[in-house]
Amino acid sequence: MSQTQSEPMNDDPAMSPEARRAPADEPDIIIRVRDLVVAFGEKVILDGLNLDVRRGEVLGFVGGSGTGKSVLTRTILGLVQKRSGTIEVFGRNLDEVDTEEAKTFERRWGVLFQHGALFSGLTVGQNVQVPMREYLDISQGLMDELAMLKLDMVGLPRDAAMKFPSELSGGMIKRAALARALALDPDILFLDEPTSGLDPIGAADFDDLIRTLQKTLGLTVFMVTHDLDSLYSICDRIAALADKKIIATGTIQDMLAAEHPWLRSYFHGTRSRQALASQPPGT
Ligand SMILES: Nc1ncnc2c1ncn2[C@@H]1O[C@H](COP(=O)(O)OP(=O)(O)OP(=O)(O)O)[C@@H](O)[C@H]1O
Ligand SMILES: [Mg+2]
Repeated sequence: MSQTQSEPMNDDPAMSPEARRAPADEPDIIIRVRDLVVAFGEKVILDGLNLDVRRGEVLGFVGGSGTGKSVLTRTILGLVQKRSGTIEVFGRNLDEVDTEEAKTFERRWGVLFQHGALFSGLTVGQNVQVPMREYLDISQGLMDELAMLKLDMVGLPRDAAMKFPSELSGGMIKRAALARALALDPDILFLDEPTSGLDPIGAADFDDLIRTLQKTLGLTVFMVTHDLDSLYSICDRIAALADKKIIATGTIQDMLAAEHPWLRSYFHGTRSRQALASQPPGT
């Protein structure tokens, strides 16, 4: 199976040109990846990958460990070179933008990398100001104020601004990294396993925070996750990576109904039972 039945890819060569043309009510696509091939030397990681991310959705991105979820994220961000294919963000082909336009795009997305990395030699406040320093030409006083606002947004106390990462708990570090990702008021938030390493309550709180921010700020969220609870509770749609491609996209219900062996074992396996059991019936 290539895609779930309900969502044919509109670049499917088997479809007529009419069917491929977007109808007026088709969702607004903020990231469009087509025929993407990424390889490191002889090792092909992604091979003919297609993916649409819709404006305003939380898209959960799943796949086995080492299958290329972070590589795809980093390729969209321009940090890994692709071998072929196209990536459009905000309706623009990234191969066709000049350095200046690329820079404006970088301001419009925020990233929380997998290993959360804050700069250990900088305080939390200084960490949040790093993107401001790079992209905005504003006074120190204004940056201090903005950094405080971002800490408020992610639920960190203001005195966290003066602390170094080593003085924070894992959950606080994630929140600080999220504050930094939000520093420039992005349109798209990329989160690579944001709840890994958090206890279930911390992870649920973090999910709630992401959902609230997404709603209040109108963000599009692209979230790599292994966390089934996150997939159930905050993702509008899920895309699954296996065999170097997206093998399915759809709602959690589509994933549960899918026949693909990897999806069956992922969503119905032993480790998923608890998450399933915790869902109210009929969801
Ligand atoms: N810069 C690189 N050079 C060479 N190989 C790389 C590079 N970055 C990633 N890889 C390889 O690409 C493959 C996919 O890696 P990636 O980090 O995207 O996996 P992942 O799906 O994010 O896994 P996880 O769930 O464990 O984070 C792995 O085999 C990895 O070793
Ligand atoms: Mg990864």
